[in-house]
Amino acid sequence: MKPIKELILAIKFDKDQVIEIPSELQLIGQGRSAAVFRVVGSMQAVKVFYSEHHNLAEKEGKIYQQLSNYVYYPELIEVGDGYLVIEYLEGMTLYDCLVSGIPITPSMVDMVDEALNYARAKGLNPSDIHLRNIILTNDHKIKLIDVVRFTQKKECPHWPDLKRAYYSYYQRRFFPKRFPPFFIEMVIRLYRRRLLPIRS
Ligand SMILES: Nc1ncnc2c1ncn2[C@@H]1O[C@H](COP(=O)(O)OP(=O)(O)O)[C@@H](O)[C@H]1O
Ligand SMILES: [Mg+2]
Repeated sequence: MKPIKELILAIKFDKDQVIEIPSELQLIGQGRSAAVFRVVGSMQAVKVFYSEHHNLAEKEGKIYQQLSNYVYYPELIEVGDGYLVIEYLEGMTLYDCLVSGIPITPSMVDMVDEALNYARAKGLNPSDIHLRNIILTNDHKIKLIDVVRFTQKKECPHWPDLKRAYYSYYQRRFFPKRFPPFFIEMVIRLYRRRLLPIRS
């Protein structure tokens, strides 16, 4: 197989749009700062940062090194110029679970808390913990990805908000467990703007 660096150079972006992908890579997800590809036939994923976020690769690489924990976080394999090679996690994000109706259990919520406590014990401030940054693996473990904002000083309300929504709405017996994407986006937006009441 071609070296990873060569494969990455063959990806063509138009700002944050991926317009050309070499056949050895498969696009598996995109966020605000990067596109993530699986190296086909391997357990490696490459996170390629958009050019304006190029410098975040080194920053996120350092945080993964600081975490150095493969129970709650993917293994870091390589830090390159504008990209990271990390362990490919077979599974789905909690966002995908909501869309496809896979139940989110209290023990999954507890595993996220354990992962966050672990990061705090390492002197980090876990931030930007939202549904697309939490993966439920095929062997029923929870792993957190996208740790680049873990060194920010400000407290991030996303996870406490999600947890509150989980216990006050989702856990109710007759609350649906499957949602169309537009609905999830709308609820998250309303919740973040404090426009939905917290039920007890
Ligand atoms: N190691 C991985 N294994 C499987 N899927 C991943 C992995 N890393 C990222 N993804 C997918 O790619 C998406 C974007 O990755 P992420 O690191 O969150 O990028 P961003 O920093 O731009 O938000 C994630 O929401 C997830 O769906
Ligand atoms: Mg993300």
